[in-house]
Amino acid sequence: MSSGRFITLEGTEGVGKSTNLRFIESVLQQHQIDYQLTREPGGTPLAEEVRELLLANRDEVVADDAELLLVFAARAQHLESVIRPALAQGRWVLCDRFTDATFAYQGGGRGLSKEMIGSLESMVQRGLQPDLTILLDLPVEIGLARARMRGELDRFENEQMDFFVQVRDAYLERAAADPQRFAVIDASGTLEQVQAQIASVLEHYLQEQAQ
Ligand SMILES: Nc1ncnc2c1ncn2[C@@H]1O[C@H](COP(=O)(O)OP(=O)(O)O)[C@@H](O)[C@H]1O
Ligand SMILES: [Mg+2]
Repeated sequence: MSSGRFITLEGTEGVGKSTNLRFIESVLQQHQIDYQLTREPGGTPLAEEVRELLLANRDEVVADDAELLLVFAARAQHLESVIRPALAQGRWVLCDRFTDATFAYQGGGRGLSKEMIGSLESMVQRGLQPDLTILLDLPVEIGLARARMRGELDRFENEQMDFFVQVRDAYLERAAADPQRFAVIDASGTLEQVQAQIASVLEHYLQEQAQ
């Protein structure tokens, strides 16, 4: 049995990840691809509990290293109980955020070292990387305005503008360093315009896989 493919969707707050996941699902369904939809932080009962710990607004200041370790604790569980088993069964995995988000938020946003994040990545992923990462890119103000329309803000969404500028820059830097894996989408247009770009990336990727 051929192993599945691992597709991740990334981007700052309000770029449209959750909205466009449904569109990506519809494309996979049209191609009769068996897939598992999941998200980070989260994707398993334990990891979803860690997500709640991470996102909750709280009076206590969360130490950057504690935040980083919680993210990777959730990821270790998610990999072990959801992502690796699905891929091994030949299912595709479609994940709302993954380790690029850690390099962007904890690396770019919080300023933690890439080397430290990289060593946790090696420990937990043991070489596993997404096959395709779709990065939705949008000026930070537009994304935040969209996210605010959604309702109450979580601990990350409550960060200051320069935090998100750093996060966006870190994402773009990672995409530039690995153009084979990343497809950067201009997410500033209408949903139809964004989905037309995503469709073209996916069709191209699916054609490549079929060869
Ligand atoms: N291209 C778009 N143009 C305008 N609004 C959008 C677009 N894409 C998504 N939205 C809206 O922006 C908000 C944030 O989208 P969402 O998918 O929740 O973002 P994310 O999951 O990346 O944080 C939602 O209310 C969504 O309906
Ligand atoms: Mg979302």
